[in-house]
Amino acid sequence: MVDSEALWREALYGPSGFFTRGEVPADHFRTAPLVGPELAEALLVLLERVDFALGRPARLDFVDVGAGGGELAGAVRALASGSLAARLVVTAVDLGPARSVPGVRWRSTLPSSVRGLLVGHEWLDAVPCPLVTGPASHPWLDRWWPVRDGERAELGQPRDEAWADAVSRVERGAALAVDYGHVRADRVAGRYAAGTFAAYRGGRRVEPVFDGTCDLTAHVALDACAEAAGGEWVLVSQRDALAALGFVGAVSPGEPDWLAAAERASRIAELRAEGGLGSFGWLLHAVGVPLSALLPPLPPWRP
Ligand SMILES: C[S@@+](CC[C@H](N)C(=O)[O-])C[C@H]1O[C@@H](n2cnc3c(N)ncnc32)[C@H](O)[C@@H]1O
Repeated sequence: MVDSEALWREALYGPSGFFTRGEVPADHFRTAPLVGPELAEALLVLLERVDFALGRPARLDFVDVGAGGGELAGAVRALASGSLAARLVVTAVDLGPARSVPGVRWRSTLPSSVRGLLVGHEWLDAVPCPLVTGPASHPWLDRWWPVRDGERAELGQPRDEAWADAVSRVERGAALAVDYGHVRADRVAGRYAAGTFAAYRGGRRVEPVFDGTCDLTAHVALDACAEAAGGEWVLVSQRDALAALGFVGAVSPGEPDWLAAAERASRIAELRAEGGLGSFGWLLHAVGVPLSALLPPLPPWRP
């Protein structure tokens, strides 16, 4: 039997793999950190809440796992201000080549201990996992994604393990995975019966090949990741999470710089668009701090 997970891993992270070679996701698709500064601003609001809940420690971590070109980590570093900025240590983690981003420490492995906020933005979708065609039986599939005759699925256990490992490194604070994905009810209903494995090159969807020439990805079973990492967590839409952090994208009529405000509102609208970036899931785990200090109650994610 073909080991699809190994092929996928080699194609992205082998010696001449797509990400090992230093391909920047930004060259191949538009991710939220590239829309504008608003995602980083929203994460700073969340980081401030974490900081407050931790009692404003002498050192506060922001760790960006799967940092790609370092755009998000760099923006968080550049936008932080006041006492928080003075205590903030920003770390980018990626298997690809280290980038030079002002004020950002670069590593290839996750730090062993984090006090603050760990974020995996579009990280888990790039974690390779087995591709299966039904009928197939496996404890993970039986629990999370029953696969019938002729159906396809991605067996998400490696993502569960990667996320559980990342969350376990947060000593106190929070861990946030932001990604496109699906939930069990929709998988069971057969909405993803063709699987979600896909390849992209130069901004276009292409036929998947395991030769390192394209990005290979699949939607993330974020509900399974949540359960694997455990503790106190919530899984909501980016649309709702951004609004709860104060990013709704409204322009008030008396705005002095109306044009700038309208441009900002349209970027926030893009981040909150249903069926687009707004339908991404935000899986937030609180560690040693109350979840209610980070986000108010919101409807469960249903992409
Ligand atoms: C789809 S890209 C996302 C980049 C960026 N976060 C963004 O949203 O634009 C996924 C990134 O995760 C990195 N990655 C995958 N597995 C990793 C791991 N175990 N540790 C560190 N980085 C990893 C890849 O090298 C790649 O740069």
